[in-house]
Amino acid sequence: LTGAITIDPGYKNSGSCTSGITFLDGELGILRYRGYAIEDLADNANFLEVSYLLIFGELPTAAQLQQFETDIRKHSLVNEEMKGIIDGFPKTAHPMGVLAALTSALTAFNPKSVNVENEKELYQAVCKTMGKFLVIATWTYRKSMGYPLNYYDNTKGYVENFMNLMFALPTEPYKLSSVVTEALDKLFILHADHEQNCSTSTVRMVGSSHAGLFASISAGVSALWGPLHGGANQAVLEMLEEIHQNGGDTEKYLAKAKDKNDPFRLMGFGHRVYKNFDPRAKIIKKAANEVLGTLGVDDPILEIAKKLEAAALEDEYFKARNLYPNVDFYSGIIYRALGIPTDMFTVMFAIGRLPGWIAQWKEMRENKEPIGRPRQVYTGSPLREFKKPV
Ligand code: SDX
Repeated sequence: LTGAITIDPGYKNSGSCTSGITFLDGELGILRYRGYAIEDLADNANFLEVSYLLIFGELPTAAQLQQFETDIRKHSLVNEEMKGIIDGFPKTAHPMGVLAALTSALTAFNPKSVNVENEKELYQAVCKTMGKFLVIATWTYRKSMGYPLNYYDNTKGYVENFMNLMFALPTEPYKLSSVVTEALDKLFILHADHEQNCSTSTVRMVGSSHAGLFASISAGVSALWGPLHGGANQAVLEMLEEIHQNGGDTEKYLAKAKDKNDPFRLMGFGHRVYKNFDPRAKIIKKAANEVLGTLGVDDPILEIAKKLEAAALEDEYFKARNLYPNVDFYSGIIYRALGIPTDMFTVMFAIGRLPGWIAQWKEMRENKEPIGRPRQVYTGSPLREFKKPV
């Protein structure tokens, strides 16, 4: 009951669950979505294919994929009144806070709760969430820049739309490049699901009270925002930039990370489950080299990241605690090379994680899981008689 991963037969839903979606082996560094190795999917699939796989359990045929893309397009229009909500935020608001609010607000414009037994209704809710979430995620950036809000372009694919929604200006259409869309496909795939992590457990917990899909996803966005979780990718870049500004002195920051009197942690290192290596970090590190090389970006931050990683992997403190780079360590370097601003990095994580959240919420509801109600080990006062303090 204290967060152990074994399920206490005596108490249903002790905060753990059974799931057929994602398999992790923290010792061997294995990650599989519906039985497919993450390396296979990252090399051979696109993000919508993997989203379909996670949510519906099987890779889509060409016809199913085309229909999925079409249905997402159909539901990508966001009610114009949502603009009134985003206008209520200051330009300086963090995009994750705006995204959590806008996602929850979608319920106001789609009030009918989803009957999960009705396959058609559930499929429509999935397409609505995939389409509208992508649009409002980019609106958080456009709002911060004072740009007009863009709409989904039905002539473009899902990942192409993301870059277009983010960067296309009335005066300057966005020029898409296959390097960028392939890199984003890979990054979104690598973030798409990760078993019962903090934000996914939150989505399942909120959804277990039969709160709607948008409300549950909104709660997941808030949980992901934390710097110990998805917010780490922004914290990694800020850390690497600080090291760069301090002459690239990685040893100084390694010492800080080991100093128990210093709250500083090496962001992008360590993991609750992976105690050898995070398979996603390996793929992203390789992709960072490829993308920066192809785009001709010479970013000193990448060299600092590699220097820091090499030093940490040799360091007794880090080795003794099985601290290796995780998914967040290199991802921000690619986002930066693609022109994504640092405070949008965790929004990128949310866009990638969306199909996983949807899949997990759907599984929890289809399994008719009881309302989440973890128990506790009580450590407070024993019974005592009421006496007014003098
Ligand atoms: C994600 O769960 C998921 O699957 C999450 C995720 C996903 O896809 O959803 O993979 C995404 O959240 C990745 C993690 C991103 N967070 C960071 O990079 C933040 C920095 N990392 C840490 O704060 C930490 O490693 C955690 C939170 C990721 C994991 O924490 P744990 O497993 O609870 O480890 P711990 O806090 O118990 O630390 C064990 C020891 C401690 O030292 P001792 O008390 O034993 O002396 O390791 C030390 C910690 O101080 N430690 C670190 C460290 N992480 C752990 N020391 C320095 N730098 C670090 N990064």
